[in-house]
This record gives sequence, structure tokens and C-alpha cells, in this order.
Amino acid sequence: MTTSATSNQNLLKWVDEMASLCQPEKIHWCDGSQAEYDELFRLMIANNTAIRLNEEKRPNSYLIQSDPSDVARVEDRTFICSEKEIDAGPTNNWVAPAEMKGTLKGIFKGCMKGRTLYVVPFSMGPLGSPIAHIGIQLTDSAYAAANMRIMTRMGSKVLDVLGDGKFVPCMHTVGAPLEPGQADVPWPCNKEKYICHFPDTREIWSYGSGYGGNALLGKKCFALRIASTMAREEGWLAEHMLILKLTNPQGIVKYVCAAFPSACGKTNLAMLEPTVPGWKVETVGDDIAWMKFGDDGQLYAINPEAGFFGVAPGTSNFSNPNAMASLKENSIFTNVALTPDGDVWWEEMTDDKPAKLTSWLGEEWTPDSDKKAAHPNSRFTAPAAQCPVIAPEFEDPKGVPISAILFGGRRATTIPLVNESLSWEHGTFLGSVMSSEKTAAATGGLGELRHDPMAMLPFCGYNMADYWGHWLKVSEAPGAKMPKIYYVNWFRKSEQGKFLWPGFGENSRVLKWVFERCEGTAKAEATPIGNLPAPGSLDIEGLDIAPEAMEELLRVDTQAWLNEIPGTREHYAKFGDRIPAKLQKELDALEQRLKDAN
Ligand code: GTP
Ligand code: SPV
Ligand code: MN
Repeated sequence: MTTSATSNQNLLKWVDEMASLCQPEKIHWCDGSQAEYDELFRLMIANNTAIRLNEEKRPNSYLIQSDPSDVARVEDRTFICSEKEIDAGPTNNWVAPAEMKGTLKGIFKGCMKGRTLYVVPFSMGPLGSPIAHIGIQLTDSAYAAANMRIMTRMGSKVLDVLGDGKFVPCMHTVGAPLEPGQADVPWPCNKEKYICHFPDTREIWSYGSGYGGNALLGKKCFALRIASTMAREEGWLAEHMLILKLTNPQGIVKYVCAAFPSACGKTNLAMLEPTVPGWKVETVGDDIAWMKFGDDGQLYAINPEAGFFGVAPGTSNFSNPNAMASLKENSIFTNVALTPDGDVWWEEMTDDKPAKLTSWLGEEWTPDSDKKAAHPNSRFTAPAAQCPVIAPEFEDPKGVPISAILFGGRRATTIPLVNESLSWEHGTFLGSVMSSEKTAAATGGLGELRHDPMAMLPFCGYNMADYWGHWLKVSEAPGAKMPKIYYVNWFRKSEQGKFLWPGFGENSRVLKWVFERCEGTAKAEATPIGNLPAPGSLDIEGLDIAPEAMEELLRVDTQAWLNEIPGTREHYAKFGDRIPAKLQKELDALEQRLKDAN
């Protein structure tokens, strides 16, 4: 038992109450020190949960394989427990708060028997920033506590900043109590899972999973689901967006946010190496942006996180050298493969596959194996400060002024490489109707095309139609200077099923066009769906791409867009009369423009 370094009575009382409920063997208040982190891993190694990687190849780093049933976020077990069902809306699972609290009090009773309860104080955002907020996670997972030290500003210093102030209580258990003498398993979890949010009281309760967004509660649960409801009340935005700093050859800087669904390219875009000479990209954030108005009427964004919980497969020195450098040491790897010399590997990390590996399932693997070596949603947890292109502004409590917002998803057809919206309202409309193929970041339905408005479908803590209303409303703030909005798609395919656009570093060509549109220098051509690059205005110099591919990437397929209108109307109809009239009008206007052009 360690003692608390706080005199915050609400916090002490809550920890007491929760300890009585969960009945842990011990309580440990995390101070955030290196010694504590090392001890967490000593315990995880002793429990066969973690192995230490080869010190020369991957200093101070660990590999963990989860239970094969606990590998991703569980959207069907994620609940928004607002007082009224309509406030959760048709895209969220809802249970009345009193009923869910009853269920949770039942299953949390004695859930930490035989385990240590870790008290994890964390700040989302630079300590003391006016945009930051504090949470306290109680967890019986040493793995979650260790990850939280990389992903957030964590430890005693947070309690100092908190003082007697308010915090978001985040309860977490893997739901696997130990009877006296019962041996532990490497990855304890429960078949039954509950990821619950109480927006009215700003609380989080998570049961049964140790993985990612289910268990690192500062991330999706707090920084998106709870924060989106706070943002709505307080007039700001909490978004599933990367933040990047873009500098042109003349040294002019602009900041860009981009909302792509899970595993659709945020981390990659946030730290890309531009192929256009003289341009520079630096990373402010790779997953979440909190944006508040500055005195000048611009939206200022901070990255509430301190680390990257990045998709491993596909990450390589070719696709994302800056991510590879970020994870070269002091990192945690989950569900990737182990090489015979004690390093990690995943699909596409190297051109040549290793001759032999231990797969994420602990099985012997060779290039002939029919299973993947790493799970498709395997992840690295790496400190953001280790990214070679981390922008100094990453630590700036003021945040950075945003000039442009990109929306995008995985769309094999229809959606052009880039499309500029005609106004904030039109951009909000494009965000509200965007769709994407499902990825391995959530369980179930791989590849299925679904509407994922603003990449927030699994993360909006309230009625999605009210969220769109909030997007429209923020632009009406006095003196508001809103960013320009773009809809991009790196994933359009040829008839043969190959990606038409090379992506990754080449996406800098699109960033350049966006930058120059914001400057007012690049030319655009009006189309029924928005403004597309005028011939010659998208810089493709030195790019090895067939003219037909380029033509297809920028083709506005009016018939395909028209074909989507009925589906869009159905999508809107789910929200009944909560749909903002302005969006309904945008949809009607789009249909009319498409018909006129067809
Ligand atoms: P979350 O962390 O789940 O929110 O994902 P993310 O949006 O940060 O996605 P990430 O950048 O990790 O990319 C996910 C997958 O998409 C990886 O396998 C990448 O290799 C692939 N990817 C990223 N950018 C591109 C691109 O421009 N083109 C293509 N074809 N694939 C890409
Ligand atoms: C996502 O799924 O969007 C992620 C990973 O960033 S997780 O933290 O598991 O939500
Ligand atoms: Mn994400």
C-alpha cells in the first residue's frame, strides 16, 4: 500500500468507496516515476504477461500478447448512459443511468480480489493548460497503468495541479478476481464487457477488457466521448483528429487537423515525410484534437495525449519512418510478432519476411504460414516526445490555430482525392455524410461500408444530430474565423482493386494544394460536389502516376454521387427531426446540383 499525495477530499472519499466495492488486495497510488514503471513490468514479466525485448535492438521495451478474445474496441458493448435515450441518439447503445449503475455495482463487487488497485492520476493536455482536463483512473491492470504513463501526463504532478479541483472519475477493471491461491493468467479479462459513459455526471466505468480504447480511459472514453459532451456545453470541439504543422518553402506555417476513422491514416499523415521539395510536416497530435476559440476568433487545437497508440501493421521505414523512429525504444508492443533475436515484427515492417517468428498467438510462424504474424489491430505505445518531427507546439498550452480541417475515409469508389467545401455549413454536411470501410480497430464487420460522420461514429458522447448542430453553432460565435473544410480519399481503387494513389509521403501534394487554397494562390474548379483542383494546380511533378489514374482520382462521378443520395437520406432519417435544417438543405442542394450536371 502506498499513500496518497493528495488532500483532495472528493478523491480520497471516492477511492475509499471504490476500494470497498472492488475489494482489491492492495492500493497503489501511481507517482509516474521510472522506478514505478520498471516495477510494473517486473510484475508483468513475473506473471508471464510481458517479455522484455532485446536491450540492444529495442532498449527499455516490452512485448505483450493479449487474450485472442480481447484485441480491439468493442463498439457493441459501448454505452452512453444519458438520462434520456434521445440524448444518446440512434448511433449509440443506451441504458438508463440508474439501471446501468445497478448492473455495474453488481459486477464490480469484489472484481479486484487478489489484485492491486492502481490509482492513476492523469492530465489530458499539457499540465495546467487552460484547455487541459484531469482524470483519475482506478484500474487493476498494470498494463493499463504502464500504458497511461506513456499516453498521458501521469503521476503525482497531476495531483499537485488538481489540488482540491474536479476530475473525471474513470473506473476500470479487467473483471477477473483471483481467489486465494488461484494462479493468474497472462492476460486476465472477462468474456462480458461493459464500456460505459455517464455524460450527465461525467463518469466512466469500464469492465472486462484490458485492450486499447476499452482500457486506457483517457483516450476515447474521456478525450472523445465525455469531452464531446463537455465541449458541447462549453462551446468548443473534441474531435477524432490528428494535428499537423505544415511549413512551405518560404517558411510560412499553417496548422491542419484531419478526421479519418480508426486505422484510416491519421498517424501516417500526422508525421509524413513530404515528397514535395522544400515542404515540411511536423506532428502536434496523431489521434485527438481539442479545439477552443482564441481571442482572435480562430480555433486553437491541443493534442490531449502524450503518446501514440499506433497501428503496427503497415508501419515501416518506407511508409512512416518517423513512427519507426518514435518506437525505437521506451515502447510497449501489443499483439505483434517476436523475432528469434528478441525484437518485434509485423506485416510490411520489412520487404523481406523473417524466416521464423513467434506469432502474436504464441505459435511458430514462417512466411508460408496462412495466419498473420501480428494481429491486424496490433499496436505500439510510444512517447510522442520521441518522434523526430514532433512540433515544439505539442507542449504549448495555448494550442495551435487551425487553418484547415480534412475529413476522409476508406472509399474504393466515388470519393475524389480531394474536394474543397463551399462553406462551413457545406463542410459540416460533407463530414456528416462521410462513410468508410470498417477496419480491425473495432471488433466485427471488417470491410463493411458504413456512415462514420466526422470519424466520430464510435466516439460521440451524445446524439449525433445534436453534434452536427453544435458544429454549425460554433461557427456563429461572435468573430469566429472558421477553418476551411476538405474531403479527401487516399483509398480509391482501380477496377483491378489496386490503390490508385500512392499515399503516405505523396499525400503532401494534397496538403500543399490545401495550404495554397488557404493562402488564396492555388486554382480550383467548381463541381456539383465542391471545388476540385483546377488542371495543373495539384503538384504532381516527379510523381510516377499514369494520367488515367490521376484523371480517375479527380473524377466527379455524378451518377455514383446521385446513387448515394437515397442512402444518405436514410442515414439522416434515423435522426428524425433532430437533423439541423441547414444540413437537410445542403443535401437537397447537392442533389439538385448533381441532377443539373447529369
Ligand atoms: P487509429 O489509431 O486506429 O485511429 O488509426 P489511424 O487513423 O491513425 O491510422 P494509421 O495512420 O495508423 O493507418 C492505418 C493503416 O492505414 C496502416 O496500415 C497504414 O499503413 C494505412 N495507411 C495510412 N495512410 C495510408 C495511405 O496514404 N495510403 C494507403 N494505401 N494506406 C495508408
Ligand atoms: C482507434 O480505434 O481509433 C484508436 C485505437 O485510436 S483505440 O485506442 O483502441 O481506440
Ligand atoms: Mn483513433
